[in-house]
This record gives sequence, C-alpha cells and structure tokens, in this order.
Amino acid sequence: MNEKENRIEVYLDDNAEPVASYSPPGSFELDTTTLDDGPHRLRIVAFDRYAHRGVRGISFEVRNGPGIAVDGLHEGDIVEGKVGILINAYGGAYEEKWEPTRAETPKPVPTWAWVAFIVVVAWAMYYAVQQWNPTPEFAQTPTYRKISEAQAGLGKGAALGADLYRTSCASCHQNNGQGVPNVFPPLARDPVVNAADPAEHVKIVLFGKKGGLINGVAYRAEMPAWADQLSDEEVEAVINHERTSWGNKAPTVSAEEVGRIRRR
Ligand code: HEC
Repeated sequence: MNEKENRIEVYLDDNAEPVASYSPPGSFELDTTTLDDGPHRLRIVAFDRYAHRGVRGISFEVRNGPGIAVDGLHEGDIVEGKVGILINAYGGAYEEKWEPTRAETPKPVPTWAWVAFIVVVAWAMYYAVQQWNPTPEFAQTPTYRKISEAQAGLGKGAALGADLYRTSCASCHQNNGQGVPNVFPPLARDPVVNAADPAEHVKIVLFGKKGGLINGVAYRAEMPAWADQLSDEEVEAVINHERTSWGNKAPTVSAEEVGRIRRR
C-alpha cells in the first residue's frame, strides 16, 4: 500500500477481509446474490495520505427471495384462541415474465373501502335527484305532479285542482292566472280569490258571475256556472289551486263548505 495515497477499504458485516480496496475515486459492484436475505451492514474505511482514518457505516437489507405478505397477525398483537393468518410470498425478479397476479395477496375488501363506495353512490343518487329536471310535458303528467306535490307537502287535492284549472278555467283565465286584459279577469291578486272569507269565491265558481266591476274593469264576457259540472270536492280543489297559485296565499276552503253554499 502506497502510504502517500488516499485509500478506501470497504468491509461487509463482520468480515475481516475488505470486499473492495482501492484509491479514490472509484466504484465497485456489490453482488447481493451471494448474500443471505436480511439486514447487512457496509463499513467504509478511508485513509488520507497522513494515515488519518475516516469511517462510515451504512445498514441495508437484501431481498432476493420472494417478498412475504402477512394478513391477520401484526407485530406486537395480543391473540387468543385460533387465529386465521393469510400468508402470500411472491418473487419473480429472476423469472422471464413477471406475473403480477401472484403478487396480489387475496385479502377481503376492507370496510373503509365499502363505506367510501356507499358514500359515493349515495352522493351520486342525491345529486342525480337534485339535478333531475322533468321536461315540461312530463312535469304536467299526473304521476310526476303527484310526486312533486307530495315532496312539497301540498294537500292531496292539489294535483286535482291543477288539472281542473288547466282543463276548465285556463282557456279564459290563462295558465299563469293573468287572464286576458279587459276580456277575462286575472285571478292572480284578485280580491275575491284572495279574500279571507272564501264564500264569494265559492259562489262565483258554482253559480257564475255577470256584470259589475273587478278592479275597475267591466268584463263583457260572463263567468260560467260550474255547479252542474263539478262536485264539491272538485270545486274545493280548483278553488284551493287558485288561492295558492301565482303568488296568491289565501285561506283555503273545504268540500263541506262548498256543499253548504251549494245547498243554500
Ligand atoms: C269562458 C271563460 C271563462 C271560464 C272557462 C272561466 N271563467 Fe272565471 N271568469 C270569467 C269572466 C269573464 C269573469 C268576470 C265576470 C264578470 O266580472 O262579470 C270571471 C270571473 C271569475 C272569478 C271572479 C273574479 C272576481 O274578482 O270577481 C273567479 C273566482 C273565477 N272566474 C274563477 C274561475 C274558475 C275557478 C274557473 C274554472 C272552474 C273559471 N273561472 C272559468 C270567464 C271564465
């Protein structure tokens, strides 16, 4: 050994003989296939030209054999009775084709994954329902209207009232309750429709109306009588539809009340 030169010696584990010895800088190849799998330690000793000694240690782990996966038993676990333990070992570093399925330890799907899955599905359903916008034609069908009214907490006559209004009243008073200026009076914000006492409202729908002023306007056409066409329940429904639509928020009427006024 030339004492005037820097020198590096590399030792493996407790071996007295260095696995490499040379003047820096330089490299060498550590062949791990000759080592057992498990923890090892490389110790590097370097000398400068005055023979001062520097040491550095590096711990590492060799794994050329198959990896081992264990499910069911953990470090420090306290166990009793029979314990089911699943063990898988997979290698393949030296095989020509790497077969990934053999590296998969067949574990059951963990609970948190199920919970996450259910949360996502529930959210997706909630979102779909929120965004569900019926087409106008479908929104008019009795089925959908009843569902949406049930959701809105409206009375059970509401669908009937809306239906009757559309078929019997909208031709004159219009779907939006605005009527036709000077021809058919609007029912939105109409004083009779919004009166706290619904008696006049019931009377007009049952027996019709002709003449007089509504909000200062005299209508030439006449309000037909419906007593022969509509039952007490139907009058109740259509009147309550008018009293709760287009911004109207008047007290509603019952079929019994309609019957009393009809028989008067
Ligand atoms: C053929 C057209 C026509 C139809 C159909 C019709 N109305 Fe009328 N309605 C009128 C006219 C016109 C008046 C105003 C009459 C007047 O002032 O002489 C009126 C007035 C009313 C009034 C009174 C408003 C007020 O302030 O006095 C109510 C309430 C009313 N209609 C409800 C209904 C309901 C409910 C239906 C369906 C069951 C209906 N109308 C169907 C033409 C119609």
